[in-house]
Amino acid sequence: MRTDLRVLSVVGARPNFMKLAPLAHELMRRETPHVIVHTGQHYDADMSESFIQSLGIPKPDYNLAVGSGTHAQQTAAIMQRFEPVCLDVKPDVVLVYGDVNSTVAAALVAAKVGIPVGHVEAGLRSRDWTMPEEINRVVTDRLSHYLFIPSRDAGENLRAEGLPADRIHFVGNIMIDSLVALLPRARKMNGHRHQPYALVTLHRPANVDDPDTLRELLETLAELGQERQILFPVHPRTRARMRELGWNGARSDNGVGVVLLDPVPYEEMLSLVLGSDMVITDSGGLQEETSFLGVPCLTVRPNTERPITCTEGTNRLVASKREPLLQAARQVTRRTAPPTIERWDGFTARRIATVLCDSARFD
Ligand code: UD1
Repeated sequence: MRTDLRVLSVVGARPNFMKLAPLAHELMRRETPHVIVHTGQHYDADMSESFIQSLGIPKPDYNLAVGSGTHAQQTAAIMQRFEPVCLDVKPDVVLVYGDVNSTVAAALVAAKVGIPVGHVEAGLRSRDWTMPEEINRVVTDRLSHYLFIPSRDAGENLRAEGLPADRIHFVGNIMIDSLVALLPRARKMNGHRHQPYALVTLHRPANVDDPDTLRELLETLAELGQERQILFPVHPRTRARMRELGWNGARSDNGVGVVLLDPVPYEEMLSLVLGSDMVITDSGGLQEETSFLGVPCLTVRPNTERPITCTEGTNRLVASKREPLLQAARQVTRRTAPPTIERWDGFTARRIATVLCDSARFD
């Protein structure tokens, strides 16, 4: 067992925080030194600070404050500002999470200064190279020494790309660790169920950046909103595009409709999912959370890097078009018993720490 290990984690965007939290707690429990770097990719309080607080993550040791920009600007700014931190801290391993620009930027820096990279949530593939996240995933995995995979299909993807089997560790889904930890608090909140509702989130560039696609999706939601209440916490990217279209929700005569909300903290989001009859989304994490909880999910995308949510979970892919979306939403009848997915059990952070600190393996 290594007692002198120094770990550095890099996070930056909203979906990173629930992947960091369980590991931060586990490393703290083991008294393993752990430096946390926030790139500042997400900076609004309701996209960053509120998550850090509700997940009990220690205040980051560094904030690189890179903010928004084009992909090249954002990635380059993170690399420039992270390199001196990496050289200064000299960790034994740099951990990166998920598939956002902060993930690939930090992995490039660490690999080039010769520090082993650990990728938490490795091996996922949509095979859709128009998604910036797919590029981030493939490049990060290629640079990583530790590939922590959430499901067995991810291991198959990595082996097919020629990555060595001894780097791949089937540790399970770390986001489920956070979900399991916050579920009791989320269940207690339970304040949203005045009437049945569907929960909606949309933020992928493919769905929200093209005005025609976004308009068709919003009009379809308004139509669905005539039949049942829709709650829609809106991502800042989507809010900006909605403003351009002059769209601000939709009310129907019978008191239902589409209600727009600001982004909500993690446990409130969990409680919204728990109370909903169905989720319509293009998020990666929600496909997994709904599967774990047995809530039907329609993913408005042509593909998913998380196929296990369709084969074993509650997820179904739907085109970003009126007819298929209306039809799929009307077919959803009820919730199912939550499936059991292998190693989505709340112990993933423990397995990762065991690999790092005790040089163990998880096949
Ligand atoms: C990023 C990730 C995406 C992830 C999503 C979760 C990449 C390439 N994309 O997308 O994989 O699913 O986060 O949220 O890393 N903005 C704000 N306040 C903020 C952050 C962003 O207003 O705190 C606005 C800015 O106008 C910004 C835009 O949202 O330009 C997009 O932000 P960005 O971080 O570039 O990408 P996301 O769409 O958030």
